[in-house]
Amino acid sequence: MTTHQIINENSWGINVDLIPEFWVEQEKLAIIQDFMFSGINVMLTGDPGTGKTELTKRLARAHGLAFHRVNVGAIRTPRDWFGHWEFIGGQTIFVQSEFVDAIQRPGIVALDEFNRVTPDIHNSIYTILDHNREVFIEETKEHISVHPRCIFIATENRGRSHTGTFMEDTAVDDRFESLRLELPPVELMAGLLEEVYGAKEEHALLLSRITHKLNGLFHEESLSRPTGFRPAISATALLKRGQPLKTALKYTFVNRFSPEGGVDSEQTTVLQVIQAYLK
Ligand SMILES: Nc1ncnc2c1ncn2[C@@H]1O[C@H](COP(=O)(O)OP(=O)(O)OP(=O)(O)O)[C@@H](O)[C@H]1O
Ligand SMILES: [Mg+2]
Repeated sequence: MTTHQIINENSWGINVDLIPEFWVEQEKLAIIQDFMFSGINVMLTGDPGTGKTELTKRLARAHGLAFHRVNVGAIRTPRDWFGHWEFIGGQTIFVQSEFVDAIQRPGIVALDEFNRVTPDIHNSIYTILDHNREVFIEETKEHISVHPRCIFIATENRGRSHTGTFMEDTAVDDRFESLRLELPPVELMAGLLEEVYGAKEEHALLLSRITHKLNGLFHEESLSRPTGFRPAISATALLKRGQPLKTALKYTFVNRFSPEGGVDSEQTTVLQVIQAYLK
């Protein structure tokens, strides 16, 4: 879990037009903030590496709000949301979670990787996420009310490459408004690789094009996994360390795919894509 403190609350309710060093479609950014400031829970969906987790953090920073991230995938039992029992000084006491503190303060609570757990894990926070915004904690016999300025933003991966995630039950789905994040358009992604990660101009454009092409092949079902921002960031790092272009691409984009099947393998497909762009 990560937490950061409130910087200021003066910008409450005022939308920002852009997030520095981060691309998100303008209309979506406005809608996300409109929901946030209206007390409506937001669900960010999209392929891996499209900035879902990063955006939750940056929204908090842009608005000077406290930020608390729950790694939902790490929650093992429905009661873990609220705390755990510890044996201290000869007796067992209930140690309340940071989540319980966070929901009673103004700020953003990010429910990261929300569909990495079975739906029963969600049951215990239903009443927190609906209009009641309160919960009874059995262990401490306390009624907790969610702060009116506590904002919930969940993230989840959806799609066929995500084994390890579970289908959303409609009860949970109904408690969020969903927005799908996409890769930035080719030129804008190249710009970010240059400005934020220090890629050379010609490399930035190439990495961005390869990313888009490979991700397109995933959506056409020619590749088994999506390609988000991360391999391009890793390739940029290798290039900056002085690795040749081909090597940088091999250990990032290519190695993510299976060599099984020889000439018909996914790696071969990826290598062909790369060859085409290197010409
Ligand atoms: N639209 C974007 N603009 C700028 N940087 C981005 C964007 N999308 C992704 N990145 C960068 O790519 C990296 C991965 O982003 P992030 O971890 O937020 O992805 P994610 O969507 O949460 O992926 P996952 O589904 O695997 O959790 C981060 O370093 C992030 O800054
Ligand atoms: Mg994430």
